Amino acid sequence: MHSTVVIKMGGGLITDKSKHKSVKPDVIDSLTTMVSVLVERGHSVILVHGAGSFGHLTAKEWGLSGGVKEGIADKQREAVIQVRGDMIELSGYVISSLEGKGLQCKSRPPSVWAMGTGSDFSGSLEEFSESPQNEVMVTFGDVVEKDGPSEFGILSGDDLMVRLSIEVPGVEYSIFLLGDSPGMMDRPPDRDGAALLDVWSPGVEAETFHNSEEDVTGGIELKARRAAEIARKVPNVWFIDGREPDRVVDLVVGGILPIGTKILP
Ligand code: IPE
Repeated sequence: MHSTVVIKMGGGLITDKSKHKSVKPDVIDSLTTMVSVLVERGHSVILVHGAGSFGHLTAKEWGLSGGVKEGIADKQREAVIQVRGDMIELSGYVISSLEGKGLQCKSRPPSVWAMGTGSDFSGSLEEFSESPQNEVMVTFGDVVEKDGPSEFGILSGDDLMVRLSIEVPGVEYSIFLLGDSPGMMDRPPDRDGAALLDVWSPGVEAETFHNSEEDVTGGIELKARRAAEIARKVPNVWFIDGREPDRVVDLVVGGILPIGTKILP
């Protein structure tokens, strides 16, 4: 059966998070190959990507997630313009890799169509719903306008995943691709003895870790909460290792249960 698949490529997967604006072209290439297989097999794909070192470092430096602050407002507004430009640049790498595989795609930067932060942000998803099967829609975490005194804020790709997965008709798969682990682990993935959880739901205890040094949006915890929200409507919500994109093909095309974590509501 052909379905709509919404995929988030985490920023830590497609960029080196610790080095300003450093992209991982080989990883992007292997991911867009996977997307091309899904599209060839008749599935529709909506691609969301994170920011990694194209967003978090500058956003952190200027406190962009907390909105405008007196005294540094002008500098912050410059930083907003810079991050938006950097995100378009990062998205450009994704788009040219998709186009290199012969795929048609359309990029939709949230700064031009979305407003507000969190999974109840506003902005029409019509273009995503009406896109033809062979066209890949691409969007990403971004700095967006906000009503009220904060002026701007950061809309995470995980929040985009919620509305896109729930509101676009016919979404059967919502897949979060991670950069540093095979799925949701019972403790931080670099800790000794870390084990993969085959299933996770909000009741399951996991000692997660949020690197607030680098990450301005919320790390794995926010991702897991968003994924569980999606699982109330979408039957297949997964955390999968983005360094192993064949696992996505196995799941969507082959109907094989992959190594990864299935998220339940
Ligand atoms: C963050 O988006 C956007 C900016 C910092 C501008 P995400 O929250 O989706 O990014 P990653 O996946 O954590 O890098």
